[in-house]
Amino acid sequence: MKRIAILASGSGSNAEKIMEYFQDSTKVEIALVASNKADAFVLSRAKKFEVPTFTFSKKELEEGILLEKLQTEKIDWVILAGFLLKIPVDLIRAFPEHMVNIHPALLPNYGGKGMYGSHVHEAVKAAGDTETGITIHLVNEHYDEGKIIFQAATTVSTDDTPETIAAKVHALEHRYFPEVIGSLV
Ligand code: GAR
Repeated sequence: MKRIAILASGSGSNAEKIMEYFQDSTKVEIALVASNKADAFVLSRAKKFEVPTFTFSKKELEEGILLEKLQTEKIDWVILAGFLLKIPVDLIRAFPEHMVNIHPALLPNYGGKGMYGSHVHEAVKAAGDTETGITIHLVNEHYDEGKIIFQAATTVSTDDTPETIAAKVHALEHRYFPEVIGSLV
C-alpha cells in the first residue's frame, strides 16, 4: 500500500475526488489530509471518508511540524491540492520526486508567486486568452517549475468570466487529477 497525504487550504473539491477515487483501492491509501486552516471545508470532506486530519499554523509549518507528522505516518507521496502556503525546502527535500502539485493554468503561463485560485482565472480573462487548462507537476525547490507530468486544455470564449473559467478548470482537475496520481504511485 502506498500511503498518500493530501495538503489543502480550502474547499478541497480535488481532495474529495481523490479520496473517492482511491476509496476501495488495494494499492493506494489516502492516509492523511493536512491543512493550514482549522476551518477549511476539506477537513469535513476528509471526515466523510474517515481519513485522519491534521492542522497546523504557518509558523508550525516553518518549524517542521508537518514533516515530522508525514514521517511518523510513513507517508510515501504528498499531493498538493489547493495548498496555498510555501512549502519549506526541507519538506520538499524529504520527498524527492514524490510531491505533486496541481496548478489551475497551463504552466509556464500564469505560474509563480500570487498566481493561485481565482487570481489565475482573472489573469487569463484579462489577457484575452482563448485557451487555459491544468498542469500536474512534481514539486521542486523552484515555485511552479518542477517537471510537468500532465496537462489538459479547455477553450476560453469571450463570453467566459473568471467564474466560468474556474468551473471549466475545476472540471478538468476533477476528471484527471485522481487518475494521474494513480498512474504515478
Ligand atoms: C484548484 O483549482 C487548484 O488548482 C488551485 O486551487 C484550487 C483548489 O480547489 N491551486 C492553486 O492555485 C495552487 N497554485 P479545491 O480546494 O476545490 O480543490
